[in-house]
Amino acid sequence: MTNRLLEALSISHPIIQAPMAGGITTAELVSAVSEAGGLGMIGAGYLDAKSTRHQIQEVKARTDKSYGINLFVPSPYTEEKDVIQRAQLSLQLYLEKVSSDVESAFSSYEQTLEIYHKQVNVIIEEQVPVCSFTFGMPSSDVIHSLKQAGIYTIGTATTLSEALAIEAAGMDAVVLQGSEAGGHRGNFLAGVEQSMIGLMALIPQTVDQVNIPVIAAGGIMDQRGVQAAQCLGAQAAQLGTAFLTCKESGANPLHKQAILEGQQEDKTTITRAFSGKAARGIENDFIRNMRKVECELPDFPIQNTLTKPIRSQAAQNNDRDTMSLWCGQNPNLAEPITAKELVHKLVDEE
Ligand SMILES: Cc1cc2nc3c(=O)[nH]c(=O)nc-3n(C[C@H](O)[C@H](O)[C@H](O)COP(=O)(O)O)c2cc1C
Repeated sequence: MTNRLLEALSISHPIIQAPMAGGITTAELVSAVSEAGGLGMIGAGYLDAKSTRHQIQEVKARTDKSYGINLFVPSPYTEEKDVIQRAQLSLQLYLEKVSSDVESAFSSYEQTLEIYHKQVNVIIEEQVPVCSFTFGMPSSDVIHSLKQAGIYTIGTATTLSEALAIEAAGMDAVVLQGSEAGGHRGNFLAGVEQSMIGLMALIPQTVDQVNIPVIAAGGIMDQRGVQAAQCLGAQAAQLGTAFLTCKESGANPLHKQAILEGQQEDKTTITRAFSGKAARGIENDFIRNMRKVECELPDFPIQNTLTKPIRSQAAQNNDRDTMSLWCGQNPNLAEPITAKELVHKLVDEE
């Protein structure tokens, strides 16, 4: 089976392992997916240029198959002292337990932008075959430089309008992120509430209006999900949660366990308590405690910087109730298998 997208990506299966920033998409995971005929993706959102290059080179050393990388598009933000102080007050209970000079860790928007542009240069220098973006649209300069270098560009949309904007900007394909999706919301034109559209509704209305290939993301965990997305018009599926619990994934073992255990309903919720940007994860004490002040918290990445020492400490202490446990709405189908096994199961090649 092939289509325009698979040919352009040089892969044999319509399976993309979602880029998952924060150490989850190890070189082992990315290369195993690519070796199995899917597209492994490096989540480089939180990396600097040096670590981005290192990650790329690690993947290249393990596979000569096609793979990709993903960046966060920086949006302007300011450090408003009073908002930060109020957030610190609401985090006091947690911050008291960690010794860290949080304020000196803040990066300005200009610094964030500089790191991002350096990452783009590294991606061009290393000739990464595919580069996707989330949290917004790259500038026309960035799209142009990547395309000039022969790199396939993919944007992330949560609404039809965002998909149309990505196509109009000249990007090669679009990931449609349904409201079921785990991790951060990629909305950039409208607010989160207006951008929570289920995949079943989002795919058909988008494929009717855009000409670039569409990739479906959100709650897809098995072959039925892949086929349903294809039936609605998607040319491939991008899966995060399903790959997170794979053996090669670098996710914290407690994160994997939280997804794998129990047949619970309604495990996940949307929160901006950890990072300042809305994201879907398994509900825990931290999310519940922060709920009442959630709308007053500073935007991404300020809140993310504020909670970083808290999250690191939680990981060290095996404290699941203070960790961010990003997860899509379909955790009950997750399995602790290898990436190769998962890709084969998704395309019925067991
Ligand atoms: C732990 C985690 C981290 C994620 N990080 C990123 C990221 O860095 N970049 C990105 O474009 N999407 C990221 N996503 C979202 C995925 O691209 C995708 O939309 C989502 O995983 C699909 O839903 P699913 O988890 O139900 O498969 C992340 C998802 C998860 C679960």
